[in-house]
Amino acid sequence: MPVKFLPRILVTAGPTREFLDPTRFLSNPSSGKMGYCIADEACKQGCSVTLISGPVSLTPLPIKMVHVISAREMFQTVKKYFHTCDVLIMTAAVSDYRPGNLSRHKLKKKKSPQTLALIPNPDILAWAGAHKKNQRLIGFAAETDHLLENARKKMLSKNLDMIVANRVGHQACGFESDKIEFAFLTPDQARISHPDFKIWTKRKLARELIQKAVKLYGH
Ligand code: CTP
Repeated sequence: MPVKFLPRILVTAGPTREFLDPTRFLSNPSSGKMGYCIADEACKQGCSVTLISGPVSLTPLPIKMVHVISAREMFQTVKKYFHTCDVLIMTAAVSDYRPGNLSRHKLKKKKSPQTLALIPNPDILAWAGAHKKNQRLIGFAAETDHLLENARKKMLSKNLDMIVANRVGHQACGFESDKIEFAFLTPDQARISHPDFKIWTKRKLARELIQKAVKLYGH
């Protein structure tokens, strides 16, 4: 029997936080559930796994975990582990911007309206797409509108091997939910106009996604 080599999987999960001052930050409602389910399933299916987690309130998994807070910390950590992984699965809801200034002291309120200057954060997955050697990359596209069109654009522009087009913004499958509405897209089916949208539990999607990751790695 041929020996089956399983991929080493790097997963990111949860939101990032971008601090304005010691008491306030910009972030998003990502729960981290999707990424934690994927890391757990990868481990159950025999893969070696590293999970890079933003701040979430989930129980840590008994696997190699690295906790980060900001997008820049997540970027540094992905760069550190990228060359030792075979498949990177980015479920993290990375903040696209951070405040231009980080005040060391609590900002005091003023009577006049305030404007917050934001500067872009690095796009971690786009960096991975530009630097990949044999790694396979899987992204998640969180979209409220023009789901397929936007997911396809992200898959192609970030040089991904697969993207999970994820409909967000309605309650049944919200950030905190155990369910997710999604469709898988790969570059070879980039022109399919009606992919199969499903509502599954995040656990079921995680199981299926790891099987797909193992196949992608084998190609
Ligand atoms: N992503 C990333 N670094 C960022 C932003 C996103 O690595 N700074 C990754 C996410 O983890 C996800 C994919 O890129 O796998 C798509 O993220 P999404 O937030 O849907 O899209 P963006 O590229 O941020 O574009 P937009 O916010 O305009 O939809």
